[in-house]
Amino acid sequence: MSEYAPLVITIDGPSGSGKGTIAKRLSSEYGLRLLDSGALYRVLGLAALRRGVVLTDAVALEALAASLDVRFDVAEDGVQVVLEGDDVSREIRTEEAGRAASIVAAVAPVRSALLKRQRDFSRPPGLVADGRDMGTVVFPEAQVKIFLTASADERALRRCNQLLAKGFDANLADILSDVLERDARDTQRTAAPLKPALDALELDCTDLTVDQVLQSIRALILTKRPRLV
Ligand code: C5P
Repeated sequence: MSEYAPLVITIDGPSGSGKGTIAKRLSSEYGLRLLDSGALYRVLGLAALRRGVVLTDAVALEALAASLDVRFDVAEDGVQVVLEGDDVSREIRTEEAGRAASIVAAVAPVRSALLKRQRDFSRPPGLVADGRDMGTVVFPEAQVKIFLTASADERALRRCNQLLAKGFDANLADILSDVLERDARDTQRTAAPLKPALDALELDCTDLTVDQVLQSIRALILTKRPRLV
């Protein structure tokens, strides 16, 4: 790929590994667009719950995914997620929406229906995409691929603190069991299971700070795109 093609950085990994934080920091540091693909699955999960669609009904979910009226607007405090004109930025962060997202995400036709929407984010000046299958399925040509992990205990703790900071109720034991349930569902599904791309840099950030993770990624970017740094 040409050194001048838009840079695409993919960050995949299990729930709560810190992908979102790292993706946001990279996007502002390098001036790249941002795709939070989990938000798309969360919006779909929420839309299905609102309409009473059974979360495993492939036909209904595929139709819902194909016609999903969702916008990601850049707002002062981050991205505003708008479903059918309704700001759902906060609602999609609940455990209920996350759980629904992980169930609908296992339905293969849903993933195909959302593929183009995700690929459309890859435009100049470039993109940081975070999710589960960014490096394996959605952007297999990406030059910089990261697979970010951390122990389940550490991820549950981080999620718990994040939810509390946002003013949601949170119980660590419940969150840990949800993290384990989601890990199992995300890694064991047949459609785009969570796994590192063969050419991904795997980083276990259990004992790393955000800045240490960023240092490793910057070093990788430097080897791929020396002119960008
Ligand atoms: O990353 P986040 O926790 O917001 O994602 C919610 C759910 O959406 C995940 O548990 C996962 O099942 C699903 N997902 C996915 N593929 C992606 C992003 C998220 O299957 N690329």
